[in-house]
Amino acid sequence: MSAILGLSAFYHDSAAALVVDGQVVAAAQEERFTRIKHDFAFPRNAIEYCLKEANLKPEQIDYVGFYDKPFLKFERLLETYLTFAPQGFKSFVEAMPLWLKQKLYLPREIRRGLHGNYKKRVIFTEHHESHAASAFFPSPFEEAAILTLDGVGEWATASVGVGRGNKITLTHELRFPHSLGLLYSAFTYFTGFRVNSGEYKLMGLAPYGQPKYVDVIYEKLIDLKPDGSFRMDQSYFNYCQGLTMTGPKFDALFGGPARSPESPVTQREMDIAASIQVVTEEIMLRSARFAHEQSGGMKNLVLAGGVALNCVGNGRILRDGPFENIWIQPAAGDAGGALGVALFIHHQLLGKERKPQPADSQQGSLLGPKYEDAEVKAYLDKIGAKYHYFEDETQLVDYVAGQMAQEKVIGWLQGRMEFGPRALGGRSIIGDARSTKMQSVMNLKIKFRESFRPFAPSILQERVHDYFQTRPHEPSPYMLLVAPVVESRKTKLNGDYEALQGIAKLNVPRSDVPAITHVDYSARIQTVSADRNGRYYKLIKKFEEKTGCPVVINTSFNVRGEPIVLSPEHAHRCFMSTHMDVLVLEKFVLLKEEQPQSEVDREQYLSQFKLD
Ligand SMILES: [Fe+2]
Repeated sequence: MSAILGLSAFYHDSAAALVVDGQVVAAAQEERFTRIKHDFAFPRNAIEYCLKEANLKPEQIDYVGFYDKPFLKFERLLETYLTFAPQGFKSFVEAMPLWLKQKLYLPREIRRGLHGNYKKRVIFTEHHESHAASAFFPSPFEEAAILTLDGVGEWATASVGVGRGNKITLTHELRFPHSLGLLYSAFTYFTGFRVNSGEYKLMGLAPYGQPKYVDVIYEKLIDLKPDGSFRMDQSYFNYCQGLTMTGPKFDALFGGPARSPESPVTQREMDIAASIQVVTEEIMLRSARFAHEQSGGMKNLVLAGGVALNCVGNGRILRDGPFENIWIQPAAGDAGGALGVALFIHHQLLGKERKPQPADSQQGSLLGPKYEDAEVKAYLDKIGAKYHYFEDETQLVDYVAGQMAQEKVIGWLQGRMEFGPRALGGRSIIGDARSTKMQSVMNLKIKFRESFRPFAPSILQERVHDYFQTRPHEPSPYMLLVAPVVESRKTKLNGDYEALQGIAKLNVPRSDVPAITHVDYSARIQTVSADRNGRYYKLIKKFEEKTGCPVVINTSFNVRGEPIVLSPEHAHRCFMSTHMDVLVLEKFVLLKEEQPQSEVDREQYLSQFKLD
């Protein structure tokens, strides 16, 4: 037996992943345990869970891998500081204590984290090697071109290469400070959202705006080459030397200072969002074409790195790019690096064979903890909750589908927790996609977040073409691709709609599944299959039987700023603190109206999470 533990930590999204004899046995993000979103602390809880899942003790692990090289990263910080000195002294000094204490003594920290019982080597891969490994090794492809795009690791901010059999080779990279991830984050910051967290909002905002700043971005901010590489004019940015992303020259370009967080979103922010989205897609597309050329024309592409969560950009690569198939690591951000380094050690360093699986080896990304009925019952009894138990799964899904058809909002926890930022039917809040009020109810009364944010659909895989313009044989099991709603389902709108500006478009239903149709008629799709998704598939199937509609709205089980729930306890607290109607914990169903303690301090609950 060989057991390999992969770790990512100390930057953002700490995680642990365990690979036993080449199989991914467990993977989880530390934030789910500590309830601190994007927690970057040493993943003590995630490690403990992974070992428990495989019934292993620290001394039984053969290799521990860490997802980047701290000395190289330190070198970058130091060099960047020296280039800009004495500017940047403040950020440098702030970063130093943690570096000196933890990051440069990582092997010691890791041994300590494993209670001193791991005495073997710790292996470090480069940051983009970890991303690349997480993209290629679990993919269904025997060979593929590789593209990774993120903020920054050590020096690389993007890489291109190929994977064949059990090996990956990276041949090209773009280096700090030139970075698509940092460019996008600079705009995230400027539009008043939180960096490394609010990037999704910027993408969601784009369809409300006009891309009127595209030329300005190309003329002033970046010099884009045909191969997708580019140079950024650093005089507009501040991330090398300061504590903000953008500087005064940037403000001048976009007609005033950055929007302050929580102030109203104006047309300017929407137009900026639309513009940077256009530029991002162009860079992604050119990079993908370059990767295709370099691979000698391979037909498959694999993607990872935080930018690969830009599912609109991924959809563009698929539709307009040169590849027949693409596969994206669902934990595309740094959490996925933990999985990447573990698989890298297994295949690349130990030379173990790799057998691609027809669907992929990610197992629906359902790689986290699950809870037995007995545990759920013990908890519910302890707190005195009122519940209905459905021994029979068919009766359970029948009941829940019936509730959904009555426009009830359902909190749904079952099976293993998802690895990666998307909820895929293990820890989801779900509802009827046909409902015209559902988007607003979910945003304002369930998630307590901005009204403009779109919701995504889960759809039975076999019926995806009835609703969305996707290519044949192109499943999207991880909600990482965007596609337009089919013409026949679009609502016929007159010129009045086109004339509407910005958020005003939100209130006009745009299709017969309005809750999940974005203002530009697009949707970020999760295709659900019987093999991957088990009970979640059965639920949607039952909903289809009752209503004819194979689509439900699926959003992560949390409120704004909260990590996705892990346990029945987290789920119950979230349920009681929001206007959710029904809670399903495995085979237990709770109705809000029947619960004894209907008065919960909502403000207090919401206030514990830092707004993103
Ligand atoms: Fe990264």
